[in-house]
Amino acid sequence: MTWTFAHPPRLPLIAPSILSADFGHMLRDAQGVLEAGADLLHLDIMDGHFVPNLTMGPDMCRWLRHHLPLAHLDVHLMVTDPARFVEPFAKAGASHLTFHAEVVGGPAGVELCRRIRGLGLTVGIAVNPPTSVEALFPAIEHADLALVMSVNPGFSGQAFIPSVLDKVRTLRARLRPDQRIEMDGGISTTTAPDCRAAGCDVLVAASAVFGVANDRRALAIKQLRSGVSKSE
Ligand code: DX5
Ligand code: ZN
Repeated sequence: MTWTFAHPPRLPLIAPSILSADFGHMLRDAQGVLEAGADLLHLDIMDGHFVPNLTMGPDMCRWLRHHLPLAHLDVHLMVTDPARFVEPFAKAGASHLTFHAEVVGGPAGVELCRRIRGLGLTVGIAVNPPTSVEALFPAIEHADLALVMSVNPGFSGQAFIPSVLDKVRTLRARLRPDQRIEMDGGISTTTAPDCRAAGCDVLVAASAVFGVANDRRALAIKQLRSGVSKSE
């Protein structure tokens, strides 16, 4: 990989979620946002069990890796049994795997972090809005990133839940400077400045990037990064 979360090219990192891309033109859309300035591609993996939706699996990752050899592929596992999918996604060329603390916690979380890192990938641990930030504490020192969900996962295009910003402030005070905090859900030019102010340094955005026309995505990414609010 060209960079790691510990040594990012710039902050904040902008991670368009391909969940809102045109699945019939996935490569065009994915390549387009990278050329438009995105730092990572965020892949939302849903199993219809941990969340009420089905999306994509290792094959999507494999083909994106095949066509985009330098892309940083940020895989968000919203699945009940993430351990089962570690090797398939590592083989498929994922750069990073995030699993949820709701399904793997405590010592098992530490073990899963070690396993993912042992395969040469970086690792993140996520919490849903109703889950307390303390759920991250047992294993977070073994991870590269904490992902704070700002919507209940399952679908793009939902409204941002501002109360989760308190979790970000708690984490920022606790994490090492080389550990990133990623926010996911309802990020727009309106909500991004608050996320940044609270201490987030990786911003995921599906509808705010893919919901605008192709030729406006570079501007959308630039505005998310710079924290320019829509009203300015
Ligand atoms: C939600 C996913 C998000 C989603 C974000 O379950 O984890 O990554 O794609 O979509 P927006 O940015 O539209 O809220
Ligand atoms: Zn996600």
